Amino acid sequence: MEKMPYRPELDLQTVQPSAGEVVSTDWRGRLPALSGRQGGLRELRASDAAPLFALLTTEEVARFISPPPTTVEGFERFIAWTHRQRLAGTYVCFAVTLKGFDTAIGIFQVRQLEPDFGTAEWGFAIGSPFWGTGVFQDSAQQVLEFAFDVLGVHRLEARAAVQNGRGNGALLKVGAVQEGVLRKSFLRNGRYLDQVLYAIVEDDWREARRPVDPVVVLH
Ligand SMILES: CC(C)(COP(=O)(O)OP(=O)(O)OC[C@H]1O[C@@H](n2cnc3c(N)ncnc32)[C@H](O)[C@@H]1OP(=O)(O)O)[C@@H](O)C(=O)NCCC(=O)NCCS
Repeated sequence: MEKMPYRPELDLQTVQPSAGEVVSTDWRGRLPALSGRQGGLRELRASDAAPLFALLTTEEVARFISPPPTTVEGFERFIAWTHRQRLAGTYVCFAVTLKGFDTAIGIFQVRQLEPDFGTAEWGFAIGSPFWGTGVFQDSAQQVLEFAFDVLGVHRLEARAAVQNGRGNGALLKVGAVQEGVLRKSFLRNGRYLDQVLYAIVEDDWREARRPVDPVVVLH
């Protein structure tokens, strides 16, 4: 999700769940903690603002994503906004942590593109000291499971600037399929960039996870 839906100028704290809305699962109230082999995912909290500011505002991390907040306070407002969007049932944002540690080193976001998350879009950013360590792939598997099993997504899209080598490589690694190029679709630093559109479709994801049937040798 290179175009992060958070827009500081539109952050008016007005998003509330609509009256009488049926809350069928409790992720809207609070995200579950997910754990993988290398790390975990959990709800963001205000105290994550400082480490996320330090890790996600570097040039190499922010080069191909929407400009992140420029201050720790800006990240605090972003975190509060993620909670309101989650409560409204339209978006979730997980903090990425390493096993045995509680410090947030990155984020995974999923937002609905149609009501009830049928089609959704995800995006992620991790501090560069943790690139190439496997924590991305490990966390991505947890988020995919959450998206398909809990949110009820059937098609999960992602967009990556053509120039974003790691972003494209990371998406391909977790089974995303390139579907086309969105020409001049992303404005960054005064320049329109082409983006690759990726998708993971629920059926393909489930099929890829299905254990391979054992080969029966007949004598
Ligand atoms: C996207 C991000 C979370 C991925 O995490 P990561 O730890 O770098 O990802 P990984 O190292 O597991 O995977 C990246 C893959 O891309 C490959 N890669 C690196 N540069 C590449 C390039 N120029 N072209 C193609 N593939 C490239 C890597 O070799 C790696 O594949 P491998 O493990 O098979 O060798 C991280 O790089 C990041 O936060 N980037 C900045 C934010 C961002 O761009 N987010 C938007 C993504 S659409």
